[in-house]
Order: sequence, then structure tokens, then C-alpha cells
Amino acid sequence: MTPIDLASFQHVVFFTGAGMSAECGVPTYRGSGGIWSQYNYEAYACQRAFDADPVKVLDFHELRRSTVLACPPHAGHHHLARLQAAFAHVDVITQNIDGMFQRAGVRVAAELHGSLWRLRCARHGIRSDEERGAFLERRCADCDAWLQPDITWFEDNVDADVFARAGALVSHADLFVSVGTSGAVWPAAGFAQQARRAGARMIEINPEDNEASQLYDERVRAAASEAIPRLFPIPS
Ligand code: APR
Repeated sequence: MTPIDLASFQHVVFFTGAGMSAECGVPTYRGSGGIWSQYNYEAYACQRAFDADPVKVLDFHELRRSTVLACPPHAGHHHLARLQAAFAHVDVITQNIDGMFQRAGVRVAAELHGSLWRLRCARHGIRSDEERGAFLERRCADCDAWLQPDITWFEDNVDADVFARAGALVSHADLFVSVGTSGAVWPAAGFAQQARRAGARMIEINPEDNEASQLYDERVRAAASEAIPRLFPIPS
């Protein structure tokens, strides 16, 4: 793992997935022990499931919130916050909904799949944004509709504004670092292809290979908490 000096790049984008939080104790989605091997997304993480049984889907998301709250950010999160303090040109775009970066003081430019901590009403928009396990309210105070997590579920369209913002950052990246994603979910997975086409140096941090790995010039087979501090030293 040869250290890389971020001062030699104009614009750095970190693109992260669930593996970034795995060492905190938050389960990833795929693979053994992954959330989707325990819970069928069709019953817990799509609009159809919510419309059919909002209580069950909200209970599942409450459980996820409690799980995440019990898990602290790791050394990789804290190191990224220090990198952003040292360099103005380090952006994070994330598929993660767990808010772990924000808890470590990392500035997140785009939450591609929303946030576990926000609840929205279909008519009245975001109604709550709080880091707590239990939902304070499950229904909109104005129209009594069920509030739903502000998350992009399976079969949903992504948030076009958020993706446009992320795409603009990726188009200017000369270093693109993916951390802890299987690269299996589109359109988010397309950011790696976009960065490669734009000529960015491509680094993947992931203990395991996946189908997207061939897009990367360097594949760092190590855990995020170890690889991020070792690869990107803070200037003294
Ligand atoms: N450090 C780095 N990577 C890790 C670590 C670790 N300590 N532990 C596991 N990983 C890697 C796994 O090898 C895997 O490639 O993290 C990846 C997690 O992949 P997924 O579970 O598929 O998560 P992600 O890529 O974020 O999924 C994308 O799918 O279900 C949707 O909306 C959900 O945002 C999510 C999207």
C-alpha cells in the first residue's frame, strides 16, 4: 500500500458503500450476514411493501436506526474528516443511508440513496430529521398520511438533483476512490465508469473482488478503517 499525496490532485472523490460502515458493526447488504439475506427487500424495502404494510416497514427501519446508533464511526471515518480539513478538494458521495460520516464530522456532498434519519410525507416533504432510534411521529401532522423513510428503495427512481450534483463532482475528479461497495446497484455504480472515462486515477478499497473491480487501476484488498489512513496520510 504505497501512500498517495492528495496534494498532487485537483479534485478527489470518495465513493462509498455499506462496506465503509461494516467495521462499525452495521451489516452490509449483500453476502453472508447481509441485510438482504435476512430480510426480503420486497417485504421491507420497496414502495409496494410500505403501501401494503407501513407499520411493518417502519418497524424494520426503526430497528435499523437503533442498530446504527449503537455503532460508532471508525478510524477511516475520522481520518476522512481530517483529510477534508486539510484539503478543500476532497468530496464524499455515498450510497450509505446511515449518517456515519456526518457523525464523524465528514462533509457529505451527496447522499445518493437518502437517509435513515429523515422521514417524509408524500405531500408535505421532509417532516423530521433526527438521529434517534424510535420515530417521534409516524404520521404527518398536517394530513395524517404515513410518513416514510427518506430512502431510495428498490424500484424507486433516484433523486435526480442529488445524482446531478454527484455527477458534476465526478466529472471533475482526477482521483476517484471507491470504498466498500459491491458496485452492483445502478445508477450509482455508473459513477465509477464515469470517473474512469473522465481519466481519473481509480482506486478501489475493498477486501473482496467484485464485477466492478476491473474498472480500477489499483485494488487495495484491505478493510476501510486500515486502508484509508495508510493510503492517504495527513500532511504535517
Ligand atoms: N472495508 C471495505 N469494504 C468492505 C468491508 C470493509 N471492512 N467489509 C465489507 N466490504 C465490502 C464487501 O466486500 C462488499 O463489496 O463492502 C461491499 C458491500 O456491498 P453491498 O452490501 O452490496 O453494499 P453497497 O455496495 O453499498 O450496496 C449498494 O444496494 O441495497 C442497496 O441501497 C442499498 O445503498 C445500497 C446499495
